[in-house]
Amino acid sequence: MPTAPDPSSYLDTRAWIRALPALSGVTPPLVEVLPDSPSELFLYWITEAGAAGVPEPQAAALSTVDADGCPDARFLLLKDVTERGFWFSGDAHSPKGRDLASNSSAALTFYWREQGRQVRVRGSVEEGGPAVSARDFRERSVTARAVAAASRQSEVLGDPAEYEHAVTAAVARIEAEPDFVSDSWRAWCLVPDSVEFWQADPGRRHRRRLYRRDTGTGGWTAAELWP
Ligand SMILES: Cc1cc2nc3c(=O)[nH]c(=O)nc-3n(C[C@H](O)[C@H](O)[C@H](O)COP(=O)(O)O)c2cc1C
Repeated sequence: MPTAPDPSSYLDTRAWIRALPALSGVTPPLVEVLPDSPSELFLYWITEAGAAGVPEPQAAALSTVDADGCPDARFLLLKDVTERGFWFSGDAHSPKGRDLASNSSAALTFYWREQGRQVRVRGSVEEGGPAVSARDFRERSVTARAVAAASRQSEVLGDPAEYEHAVTAAVARIEAEPDFVSDSWRAWCLVPDSVEFWQADPGRRHRRRLYRRDTGTGGWTAAELWP
């Protein structure tokens, strides 16, 4: 992989940013014979990403829209892919949780740089239910459970000692009550309406395949898009 050039050898920030390598991965071909469902192709691609050494291929940007129509996005970890959709988890009281409660429309975007691949999943988010959320919470490490239980995520933290104290208390609680589950923890499922697979090409003739859900049959139609 090429390394970033030295900023001091450029006239200004713009010149340096424009000189940064882009789309520099080793690009495999787009799959020519498309599976019937996008989740099948997604699982094929994420498996290939893992095998090619892409670090944390399960990391994705989750985009949401708040009650005033303002967008936001943040990275999180994909937890599962099922026929229903793409699963992720977090705190219901966080900004993302509040966004999803007021507007279920959302998107997950993956970028696997080493392979020049992007996947965009758009649809609406449903809660997984208490049993699914509890299982997701219990699968976290003790510290991750404690941080999740103690955190007032995304609120201003006035005193770092307060955070330490809250996490220490939560660790003690979880050690005493191993089945404890934070009641604001949620597993969410992004049920896709469309999934787009983008494959970079070294000659810039990139390829795009879009799966759209057929609202009549519930099945999928696939089309190639102009890059
Ligand atoms: C690689 C990576 C993985 C993350 N995984 C999660 C996750 O699975 N769930 C989560 O709630 N936040 C995760 N975060 C933190 C979020 O990006 C974000 O800071 C946090 O959820 C608060 O977002 P919000 O204020 O929009 O609700 C992750 C961050 C990174 C960089």
